[in-house]
Amino acid sequence: MSAFDTATRLVYLAAAAGFVLGLHLMNSPATARRGNQLSAAAMAVAVLVTGAVLIHDDSITAVGVVVLLAGAAFGGAVGLYAARGVAMTAMPQLVSLFNAVGGAAAALLAVNDLTDGTSAGTSVAVTAALDILIGTVTFTGSLIAAGKLQGWIPSQPLVFPGARALTGVLAAGFLGGGCWLVAAPGDRVALVLLVLCGLGFGVTMVLPIGGADMPVVISLLNAFTGTAVAMAGFVLANPVLIIAGALVGASGTILTKLMADAMNRSIPSIIVGGFGTGDAPSVGTSRDAHVREVSADDVAIQLAYASKVMFVPGYGLAAAQAQHQLAELGQLLEARGIEVSYAIHPVAGRMPGHMNVLLAEANVPYPQLQEMDEANPEFARTDVALVVGANDVTNPVARRPGNPISGMPILDVDQARAVVVIKRSMGHGYAGIDNELYADPRTGMLFADARRGITELTAAVKTLVG
Ligand code: TAP
Repeated sequence: MSAFDTATRLVYLAAAAGFVLGLHLMNSPATARRGNQLSAAAMAVAVLVTGAVLIHDDSITAVGVVVLLAGAAFGGAVGLYAARGVAMTAMPQLVSLFNAVGGAAAALLAVNDLTDGTSAGTSVAVTAALDILIGTVTFTGSLIAAGKLQGWIPSQPLVFPGARALTGVLAAGFLGGGCWLVAAPGDRVALVLLVLCGLGFGVTMVLPIGGADMPVVISLLNAFTGTAVAMAGFVLANPVLIIAGALVGASGTILTKLMADAMNRSIPSIIVGGFGTGDAPSVGTSRDAHVREVSADDVAIQLAYASKVMFVPGYGLAAAQAQHQLAELGQLLEARGIEVSYAIHPVAGRMPGHMNVLLAEANVPYPQLQEMDEANPEFARTDVALVVGANDVTNPVARRPGNPISGMPILDVDQARAVVVIKRSMGHGYAGIDNELYADPRTGMLFADARRGITELTAAVKTLVG
């Protein structure tokens, strides 16, 4: 091995170590930014070294260099613009679009490899076929997922007559096309069959899944992108692509599993549909006689004379975009010497870290955010638990068997001395079931849009108790 080869391999190894360390730093919000910067720097080094290898091996023409630089400049500029300008709430759609681009790029690499005139061996043909399949499914699946979350495609599960049969035909098509391609690498008909069936399968796989399940699907498609990239690494014999792809594939799979577990659901049940599409009209919206309705003035007095208040944010906080108002109320109470913290359930909202992202946007200090395991023992010494637009993640029925959220870990809000719930009506949450917490005699219901309710509450605290 030449000195140049040794040097490039060592740099690739350092870049791979950078990816691993970067991922590790993302374990905590306090170090996540540094983790991201380290991973990005490692990727930049890997890209530069790959460019150096192309030039050193004389395997790129001058035109090729120009095309590469123009593509990198254009892609980098679009990525930078999109990532800097995106609203925090639109982040899942952006991630999904990036997944689509990653899947398509990985698939195109394999298509190029199979059609560039050099005959590929069987092992390369197998990984190339897998790369094309996973990459094409990810491309269209991610576009549909982004479209659903952005509202360009109706977010309800879209099922048309014969949909399942069509999915079966497409699956048979890509299996047949894939085997044919392995037997005859480079065969254009087999390649076209595999590409078309993969693209079609991505559409028919994601269309019947409801918008509320999209975060789990996006995480799954992210894992697919990583796997496709790792396959592309095998096709090109590029170790850094294999390592980076494997890391994305493995971490995406773990995240998908964690999300599904935290919702007490299995990944297959999400893919084939089940409870909680989250898109059905909310039932049970009438004000139930068994609940105690309270006014903003009542709650303001409760809050102002408490020693410890725990905020419990949920999907309704995100829907109302009330994070800034909640942070302001928290500051006001803190200024009165009240201990304020935020209890964060891992699947509150509709995407991983949804509440953390919202509250970070409102500059809530990290130490005030308590993850579920940390927050639950605190409820017993909490004077007021203020639930803002959270429903399923606080529902005590999860502790009993025989209902859709049985076994899902919940925030022990019902252990607090008093509970106040801000929501618009008796409407159900994502799981579509009644919440026993609302009928608890210690619970007061403040029926309002979260933003309006908190604004009224803040004004009432200011005027009633100064
Ligand atoms: P949910 O159980 O979905 O309840 C949200 C509540 O917010 C609803 O009952 C709704 O009641 C209220 N709401 C909606 N808009 C509001 C507004 N403008 N102002 C005030 N309240 C409003 O939310 P959660 O407790 O956060 O639980 C999340 C659920 O989503 C779990 O079941 C979880 O499994 C599921 N899920 C989570 C994820 C991730 S990764 N986070 C992914 C997919 C699914 P009203 O209509 O009466 O106002």
